Amino acid sequence: MCGIVGYAGPKASAPSSRPVDVALQGLARLEYRGYDSAGVAVIDDDAVRVTKRAGKLANLREALAKSSGSTETTGRVAIAHTRWATHGGPTDTNAHPHLGGHDHELAVVHNGIIENFATLRADLEADGFRFASETDSEAAAHLVAREMTQTGDLTEAMRRAAASLEGAFTLLAVHRDAPDTVVAARRNSPLVVGLGDGENFLGSDVAAFVDSTKEALEIGQDQVVTVTADDVRIIGFDGAEVTDAARYTIEWDAAAAQKGGYPSFMAKEIHEQAGAVADTLLGRLENGSLKLDEMDIDPSVLRSVDKIVVVACGTAANAGAVAKYAIEHWCRIPTEVELAHEFRYRDPVVTEKTLVVAISQSGETMDTLMAVRHAREQGAKVIALCNTRGSTIPRESDAALYLHVGPEIAVASTKAYLGQIAACYLLGLFLAQVRGNLYPDEIAALMSDLEQIPDQIQQVLDSSSQVERLAQDMKDATSVLFLGRHVGYPTAMEGALKLKEIAYIHAEGFAAGELKHGPIALVEEGQPVFVIVPSPNGRHSLHSKVVSNIQEVRARGARTLVIAEEGDDAVVPYADEVIRVPATRTLFAALLTVIPLQIFSCELATAKGLDVDQPRNLAKSVTVE
Ligand code: F6R
Repeated sequence: MCGIVGYAGPKASAPSSRPVDVALQGLARLEYRGYDSAGVAVIDDDAVRVTKRAGKLANLREALAKSSGSTETTGRVAIAHTRWATHGGPTDTNAHPHLGGHDHELAVVHNGIIENFATLRADLEADGFRFASETDSEAAAHLVAREMTQTGDLTEAMRRAAASLEGAFTLLAVHRDAPDTVVAARRNSPLVVGLGDGENFLGSDVAAFVDSTKEALEIGQDQVVTVTADDVRIIGFDGAEVTDAARYTIEWDAAAAQKGGYPSFMAKEIHEQAGAVADTLLGRLENGSLKLDEMDIDPSVLRSVDKIVVVACGTAANAGAVAKYAIEHWCRIPTEVELAHEFRYRDPVVTEKTLVVAISQSGETMDTLMAVRHAREQGAKVIALCNTRGSTIPRESDAALYLHVGPEIAVASTKAYLGQIAACYLLGLFLAQVRGNLYPDEIAALMSDLEQIPDQIQQVLDSSSQVERLAQDMKDATSVLFLGRHVGYPTAMEGALKLKEIAYIHAEGFAAGELKHGPIALVEEGQPVFVIVPSPNGRHSLHSKVVSNIQEVRARGARTLVIAEEGDDAVVPYADEVIRVPATRTLFAALLTVIPLQIFSCELATAKGLDVDQPRNLAKSVTVE
């Protein structure tokens, strides 16, 4: 939700690598976080110069190319922003950066929501500050500018301003009188520093600067960081110096944040899934026993758990729904799955014996973060299953298990979904091991089958042409239904979510058994219905019930698109199309059966001429509630 870039360095002298270029390169990497508008500010000839445009980054590039003043900057700092609109529509005026001060001597970019902005705005207007936009962010710009006038020190001005803001924010500011400095503050919104050689970076996430440096520094809650080309200083909102900021090396390289020959990031990420799941599973077994050392939690805590609540949103919640089937089956612990935004506000029953599992690719989803905080306030222990190192959710949890699937750039989540499911299996098997619910040889057998999954994923990817053709044929479809039972149910939900979000087609995922209780009324002649069929080698009744459900919709004219295991001939008479996946355990099939659905959505949206990486109205990390 909004991408922020800051740069302080010497690159001004090098052709095509001025601060403005570095900032634009960072924005290009962060555009997945929001693309309603984009803008950049530099200090040039002792003046703050801002260029900003509604729409995608291309519009900003065009504007900069036309305005020689901005492109020929000789300044040493830049801040930039790509926006997902909250306060005020996506217009040029509401785009960031926002100018502050009576002489427009300062510029600010902001991610988050400032809740007390109306009061601040009234106060600032009474003090003679003029507002150009409808945004909450402009109040922060004038506030920092006013504090700068009083203190003459940009760090202190930001500290005072930030301490008086309510809500969630990452703020970056540059000021005419501090032309070598970018100052930033964060509360409940992400910010990392990239440590370069004679240059330093700020970003909403490491993608902003991974082209230039792999050394990063985490900025904690309620902290202000002051960055110049040669120095990074951090203080708390209380003014105390911070000397223990965690430094780390980014594991993935810049190529991971590029399309690598694929038409879209989504297509690339779908095709990376075999390796992604292999990386989630890598190094977790030692001498036949599961070791999750990364997840630093006292085993006695896991032994005392009497209930698990999985909290997550969107695709991550669908992964959580798969976790419920696995954990209850293996560990016999009652497991609930709850949308994080519903959990907190319904006064849930959470005790010290409750284990809350927070699933989040970004680690920044505000709804999930708030659920984590609420759970911990009630005394529950929280384990985060996360992809993004240094992000807020794992930092605020008792323990974290990372997905290690590499950066996910496309807005629609694919490889992180598989990584989340694989991590849920690891957690479930680890709980079963610690609590003695499964014998070691049972766990070893399950792990052995799980380790086959990356090769099986590759087989599904290698046989994608059938689904691609189907997607081309169905590009004018107006409604698609998805049915499944057991882990096929979350798969159906995920298939529908993917189609809605990137192809803008009405789609619904149902538990197949629920159909006859109402939704079957939707089925008419030609209605496409995907059905996810469980293995015939698992519980026979589950398989035969789903085969009956295919017959039910077919009898009413549906076009049945059936995802079934290789060799499952029982489905053939009732399927207009059978899409095959390799055989595995019923539980593990969730890692395979969703892949044709991901490919279907990606291909169909592409066939419709849509931008699959940047679907309308969406942003990658939802950092507002
Ligand atoms: C859908 C999608 C979203 C996210 C959701 C949670 O493709 O990407 O539904 O899954 O916003 O995001 P994270 O996992 O970052 O908490």
